[in-house]
Amino acid sequence: MSSAAAGRHLLSIAELGRDGIDELLGLSETFVEVNRREIPKLPALRGKTVATLFFEDSTRTRLSFETAAKRLSADTMTFNAEGSSVSKGESLRDTAQTIEAMGADAIVVRHRAAGAPHQVARWVDATVINAGDGRHEHPTQALLDLLTLRHRLGTRSFDGLAVTVVGDVRHSRVARSGVAALALLGARVTLVAPPTLLPESLDGWSCVTTSDLDDVLPETDVVYLLRLQRERQAAGLFPSVREYTTRYGLTVERAANMKPDTVVMHPGPMNRGIEIAAEVADGPASVITEQVTNGVAVRMAVLWWLLGSGTVP
Ligand code: NCD
Repeated sequence: MSSAAAGRHLLSIAELGRDGIDELLGLSETFVEVNRREIPKLPALRGKTVATLFFEDSTRTRLSFETAAKRLSADTMTFNAEGSSVSKGESLRDTAQTIEAMGADAIVVRHRAAGAPHQVARWVDATVINAGDGRHEHPTQALLDLLTLRHRLGTRSFDGLAVTVVGDVRHSRVARSGVAALALLGARVTLVAPPTLLPESLDGWSCVTTSDLDDVLPETDVVYLLRLQRERQAAGLFPSVREYTTRYGLTVERAANMKPDTVVMHPGPMNRGIEIAAEVADGPASVITEQVTNGVAVRMAVLWWLLGSGTVP
């Protein structure tokens, strides 16, 4: 498959549109196959340098971008806000330009401020990839979720698929990118949350909302649990963690009301026992581990799409 890199950056799902999503998912399948090989490595990005510039904590996203870059034979640079000159007051702009001056071809940015990767894209010539900006967007997470779902659904189409996204939507960039992507593919999305954990405005969101999980769960094809983002929350958005779990947690009892083929997803990190019971997370309906595995292939596809040329070697 050849690269048609539409844009120089990947900042949001909307900029990809349905065609861009389809192209990246197709490309991701190639890298799923590469990752199954005994030596999962290609020379595709030899000579390129990929820097990860993370101002917020991450396990999966950072490791999978770095693994993806290495599997494509790119060099990697890792920046951690903690222990860097940011603690001496260096700005985001100076930090990004410093990384570019050392030869980064792509900068993968995670930042607590919505719009930070867009700013970086204006300040540097390098390719910029949004790895999560505040509560705004997380486009590669949406892509890996679609890829994982597509594998589980087989020949079933996304068109009309009933997807229920449960929990802390208000603080979730995963939900914003995910709902946008699912809607582009024709899924019917329902958000389930206490009203205090829904976004202030649902302008631009293609979905319906309810606060009654038990009402929608039996008709749901895919249930997507979100982490309760206690680090972003002002106190008082829900009465107690226990009450949250009682009403919105995917407990074992509640999961028993799902259809036999309902798919369970979570972006990680999970609060086991709060938004999802450990038994459900580890059970047969769950694709949570596949989501992590597919993250590497999707990020290989994105890096190659933006930095590669010609056909996948
Ligand atoms: C998410 C994130 O950081 O946005 N995690 C991830 O990237 N897999 C979700 C979260 O932190 O809850």
